[in-house]
Amino acid sequence: MLDAVLRRGQTLDAAGGAVRNLSTADHGLAVAIAGEALRRLPDLDALIDSATRKRLPDDSKARMVLRLALAQKVGLGTPEHALVATALPLVDGGPRRLVHGVLGTLLRRGLPPLDAPSLPAEVEHRWREAWGNEAVDAARRQISKRPALDLTFAEDAEAQDYAAKHEGISLASNHVRLPSSSVSELAGFQEGRWWVQDLAASLPARLIPDAAKDVLDLCAAPGGKTMQLAAAGHRVTAVDASGSRLARLRENLDRTHLAADLVEADALSWKPKQEFDAILLDAPCSATGTFRRHPEVLYRARPRIIADNAELQSSLLDRASQWLKPGGTLVYSVCSLEPQEGEDVVRPFLAKHSDFHLAPPEGLPSVLLPSADGWVRILPGLLEAEGGLDGFLIGRLVRTR
Ligand SMILES: C[S@@+](CC[C@H](N)C(=O)[O-])C[C@H]1O[C@@H](n2cnc3c(N)ncnc32)[C@H](O)[C@@H]1O
Repeated sequence: MLDAVLRRGQTLDAAGGAVRNLSTADHGLAVAIAGEALRRLPDLDALIDSATRKRLPDDSKARMVLRLALAQKVGLGTPEHALVATALPLVDGGPRRLVHGVLGTLLRRGLPPLDAPSLPAEVEHRWREAWGNEAVDAARRQISKRPALDLTFAEDAEAQDYAAKHEGISLASNHVRLPSSSVSELAGFQEGRWWVQDLAASLPARLIPDAAKDVLDLCAAPGGKTMQLAAAGHRVTAVDASGSRLARLRENLDRTHLAADLVEADALSWKPKQEFDAILLDAPCSATGTFRRHPEVLYRARPRIIADNAELQSSLLDRASQWLKPGGTLVYSVCSLEPQEGEDVVRPFLAKHSDFHLAPPEGLPSVLLPSADGWVRILPGLLEAEGGLDGFLIGRLVRTR
């Protein structure tokens, strides 16, 4: 899994999905170990390098096995005898003595807690430039923790009731935050009373005005925001290019007894038959804002990929803007901490389209404030004491004519 993520650029979900010869419990453990390694990779590598005379190549089996063993100790609290006993067979007939020696040295020295581990150097550099030291320090603290579980409810009264009954906190209407847990075992899942959605991911749909009748949800799957829009009473057209992701959207709507018109189409060639009162464009992006749940995004988001995304995002925004009625609202969002995919996409759009302006976001939960110029920019560190949020950029654009 580590190799598939680091060398082949896969998501951890996809890499884990390709491993089929393990029991459910072992599979869960394997994914957890890979995840813990990815949360702390630069620091684990520095430890390994401090105990070898010659630097082990990044993709060498010895380094991979050492990363996994150390990640178990630091991230999962696995007893030392257990991690040594499971690491060494992986290098039988290979660098077993080397791995045994390095592990022995590091365990004798004692491992640091690594509870605010370094992020990959290029990510730290980028985020420091864009957001400053505090955001990087907060991201370091957050990456070592499992984030809380946020639920969105179709009905606010049910959310408040659920929070009270299940020791959750509600930070916004329709929202409940619980300590992390297994989702399908939580009360009300089968009945479709709620869906899992980070509080930050619920913000874009909250900025769509109540009065908007026909709403286009562009890039909609798997549909967290579609469900919010449908639950709020809008008539929703949900477009996505991926058939398999739209199938998940369909399942989600069925489970929650909500309705939307689904369209499988590439938004770069599709054209709607009508104009909309509001449009939500939740554009595909590097997803670096989701690093708490998906630490591998920090390795997958190479500069080239970010630049390609930015181009696609600009084209999607240009197209979507043509389908909005005058006076309508277009909400642009990305779960990315890269300004290139956020502010730097919207600013040139506004410069080119004098009929659009950035409007103060109405409908934000009271625990969050927009920046003075109107952006909703969610950075690491925001609401940290309450469990933090995914990184996001959201802009509410209003068409004046
Ligand atoms: C950030 S995800 C959307 C998440 C979704 N809004 C939600 O809340 O569950 C981006 C989506 O854009 C879709 N997508 C990417 N390129 C597209 C295109 N050219 N046209 C339509 N959809 C596209 C992807 O399939 C993906 O489902």
